[in-house]
Amino acid sequence: MAQIPQETIDHIRDTANIVDVVSDVVELKKRGGNFFGLCPFHHEKTGSFSVAPAKQIYHCFGCGAGGNAITFLMEYEKITFPEAVQNLGQRYGIQVDFSHDEQSKNDYTKLYEIHEIATNLYQDNLFSPRGKKALAYLTKRGFSEDILKQFKVGLAIDTWDQLSKHANAESLKSDFILKTGLFARTEKGTFDRFRSRIMVPIFNPTGKVIAFGGRVFDNEDPAKYLNSPETPLYKKSDIFYGAHATRDAIRKASFAIVVEGYFDFLQLYQAGFRNVVAISGTALTEKHVQNLRKLVSKTVLFYDGDQAGGNAAVRAGFLLLKGGVEPKVTTPPLGKDPDDWILEAGREVVESAIKKSQSFLGFHFAFYQIQKLDGVDKSDYVKNLIREIMEINDGIIRDELLRTVGQKLQIGDKDLEKYMRQTQRRSSYTRQEPDVKIKKVFSFTTVEQRAQLELIKLLASDDPDHRQLVKMHVQAEDFTDTLLKKLATRLMSKAMVIDHSALIEDFKDKDERDAITEILIQEEIHGIPEEIVIDCINIIKSRPIKEKIESLRLSIREKEANGANVENEIIEVIRLQKTLNEHSK
Ligand code: CTP
Ligand code: MN
Repeated sequence: MAQIPQETIDHIRDTANIVDVVSDVVELKKRGGNFFGLCPFHHEKTGSFSVAPAKQIYHCFGCGAGGNAITFLMEYEKITFPEAVQNLGQRYGIQVDFSHDEQSKNDYTKLYEIHEIATNLYQDNLFSPRGKKALAYLTKRGFSEDILKQFKVGLAIDTWDQLSKHANAESLKSDFILKTGLFARTEKGTFDRFRSRIMVPIFNPTGKVIAFGGRVFDNEDPAKYLNSPETPLYKKSDIFYGAHATRDAIRKASFAIVVEGYFDFLQLYQAGFRNVVAISGTALTEKHVQNLRKLVSKTVLFYDGDQAGGNAAVRAGFLLLKGGVEPKVTTPPLGKDPDDWILEAGREVVESAIKKSQSFLGFHFAFYQIQKLDGVDKSDYVKNLIREIMEINDGIIRDELLRTVGQKLQIGDKDLEKYMRQTQRRSSYTRQEPDVKIKKVFSFTTVEQRAQLELIKLLASDDPDHRQLVKMHVQAEDFTDTLLKKLATRLMSKAMVIDHSALIEDFKDKDERDAITEILIQEEIHGIPEEIVIDCINIIKSRPIKEKIESLRLSIREKEANGANVENEIIEVIRLQKTLNEHSK
């Protein structure tokens, strides 16, 4: 394993700010001294993920995940400890001397690496004589070199092995290489998957390349787009293309413009629209909606101006409504997509269209040309529409939409209710999934464990008097719970100031770390410290005595049954009872 000097780790941990690190992927809101947001480690609709800047730790009250800035990166990016340290070092400009050691790298690291190699290679192609034609094509489509470089657009040339030659020979033979999605294997060997394509790298939220979208170029291939398959890094249903670059702008604008294509995104971005994302190679999913919901509650769907784009916008719109995000719709002129339209009509036209975007129902009515509907067609349309609306959980939004439908289509209240009854409860996916509560490995529920926890809280307190008080009366050996004893030992050995964030790194096991963070993030001490200490000591110390008394009683009963003398045992019980009474005074 590669080794990083402890001083470097400490320096980086002290410099890093967990609020910054978490804010990259979670929208945090300040409440009291802490920040709260939606947990990135489990699916939830109310924020139980908390970050304590004073202690530089985080803890999710829903799933129990917890740790410091380094472990956050480890778990979020699925990277190793040294990699997370290095990542933070880069971010805060701290040099990490870290010798790469092939064997210690995990698959995730290798996947990121091969994507980086591919990205560089494809970019070199595009900006070298080999890529002249492709670059000319992209320039003609209005893309500046700046934007192509910023988003690392490249070119896969027309060969079977250019990338293969750049990959590590070892990994090329192993099955790992197939997990990258960048190669295909036949009995003749392993080949490049992407050939003769303009390569659009797809980034994860922290800006690492995790996949590619490849647009056919100068080739007869009937598939216009070939995308990376799903890999351990790339789940197309969660990823928004471009979000790594536009997340902040989306928050600032309070709404996101959603487009269908990579080139639509790039064209809008280049024209100065920064609050944009694109879906990548899939229809909008529930997961996308959840991700958006973490940033904003409003979107503008800016899909292609054809039948397919309209259909996709209808589906996306209902999904957004069900997920609690308001969808508005802007439609390019018939047959155009946002990319063509902005090139042709210019930024101002598109900007004003986005400003004037339609309500979702307005778009729906227009798209299905309701003024032309009558008879069975109209009744089918209304039934379908109401069925979709009935699946929206938010009663206020649902009622408002139903009212609008009633007014616009001139349906009386009675008929509207009849339609609603017909469609009610018919769908199977109406109900919201409950927030998942993941079962915790460590839970401290017995009276004794809770008493030990109270003592630990005092030991971890910022007030040195609290810690001194406990140290005066309790020893680490008094802690009977193994994990709590380990924590107490660490806390007692610490100098005057407790570094919560450093402390949890002593716990290498994730379950242990989660449990420890949960304890450390709790602030309040309920009651007077002196009394807490006495009460807890009594509880902890009386436990072994009670157990002793219990076992003596058993042996007294047995001995009596055999007619043996039990005098000594009785004396011992009386003595123990007395100590017990003293403890509980
Ligand atoms: N797409 C895909 N697979 C296809 C077609 C499309 O994954 N076979 C996805 C791509 O993400 C693409 C988006 O759908 O960016 C929109 O497709 P389309 O409108 O056909 O492509 P454009 O982005 O308009 O491409 P271009 O302007 O270069 O023709
Ligand atoms: Mn296009």
